[in-house]
Amino acid sequence: MRTTLSVIKADVGSVAGHYKPHNEMLRYAQKKLNEAKTTGLINSSYVTHAGDDIILIMTHRKGENDPEIHGLAWNVFKEITENVAKPLKLYGAGQDLLSDAFSGNVRGLGPGVAEIEFEERKSDPVIVFAADKTEPGAWNIPLYRIFASPDNTAGLVIDPQLQRGFIFEVLDLQESKVVELKTPEELYMLLGLLGTPGRYAVARVRRAADGEPAASASTTRLSLIAGRYVGKDDPVMIVRAQAGFPAVGEVLAAFAVPPIVSGWMRGSHRGPLMPVSFKNGQNVVSYFDGPPRVIAMGWQVSNGKLIGLDGEEPADLFADPFWDYVRQKAAEIAVYLRTMGEFEPARLGHEEMEYTTLPLILENLKPRFKPYEEKPTAKAASKKSEPKEDVD
Ligand code: 13P
Ligand code: 13P
Ligand code: MG
Ligand code: MG
Repeated sequence: MRTTLSVIKADVGSVAGHYKPHNEMLRYAQKKLNEAKTTGLINSSYVTHAGDDIILIMTHRKGENDPEIHGLAWNVFKEITENVAKPLKLYGAGQDLLSDAFSGNVRGLGPGVAEIEFEERKSDPVIVFAADKTEPGAWNIPLYRIFASPDNTAGLVIDPQLQRGFIFEVLDLQESKVVELKTPEELYMLLGLLGTPGRYAVARVRRAADGEPAASASTTRLSLIAGRYVGKDDPVMIVRAQAGFPAVGEVLAAFAVPPIVSGWMRGSHRGPLMPVSFKNGQNVVSYFDGPPRVIAMGWQVSNGKLIGLDGEEPADLFADPFWDYVRQKAAEIAVYLRTMGEFEPARLGHEEMEYTTLPLILENLKPRFKPYEEKPTAKAASKKSEPKEDVD
């Protein structure tokens, strides 16, 4: 029997600015998902947060893009907004619900979605990642490392099942187009796209040998939907591990050297993606509304249900003291980048700043710009007429 794992997330308001959802919001979501378990709509669930984003994780038998499952998530976010976030005047109440036009699918309306439907193997470990203060392209470097870099994933070299490679489904977020590229053969072309994470993001990865789904990521870009900056996308991602997929430790290793990602303060800066535990107060942002961070939750999917360490409680995969070293590095990089203030590349480039309030400020300067023509000096003019030498 096929099982579907659905991860649907939204920022519908938070306490102390963009810090953390109110506990009542999380309790509300838990209650609604528990009700959905009693009616049999879903088999198991877990509710958590990544910084100020609420993450709903559900297993069920209804397949991907199911209107009832999406409807459940949509109603949870709507009700939390109306019944908790607005009455308490939480910050950014309903922030990610960009449209009221729900008609069976939350895609394109603001919430982020990652889903995988699969036939359970003999044993099926999965990892769900959730990030705050960044965009979907933040997964580009980790996904490249996990599924295509032999320096990260030993299995690509020593496991015959992995050696046949993976197919990356890459979205052009501006043109709403998709392209499939197969590694290792088309790796260099793949990197040509993934190197521009503001435009190209990986939606899915499949095993090349049999098309078995390996990973799925949310690709919502809120600014492209809204046409202006309304908060960062804060993506989620599902990765299947072991026995024909990269090992859990290979998947996590991809986060050991923090990639520099877009987001952070006002969604307008670049900072290191810091891997954090979700058990001990690390799963919130503070310094300059960041730095951007990511949590990793580990389960077995067994007989249609999430099996964690105790009931549905997941393994906290970045809690190991090893990650203290990575967090320390990330903090150093974060402070270093901030020494640049509002200069690129610490601040986002011109194109991405178009969705922020910076253009309003530059618009005011427009009338003050006067035509300017450089008057060539006699020396420069005579140099111009000399024949040019070929230069490599
Ligand atoms: P164990 O021998 O602990 O099961 O580990 C096997 C493995 O492949 C680890 O990556
Ligand atoms: P969020 O996208 O997490 O709401 O953050 C928005 C922001 O502007 C932080 O400075
Ligand atoms: Mg927010
Ligand atoms: Mg957020």
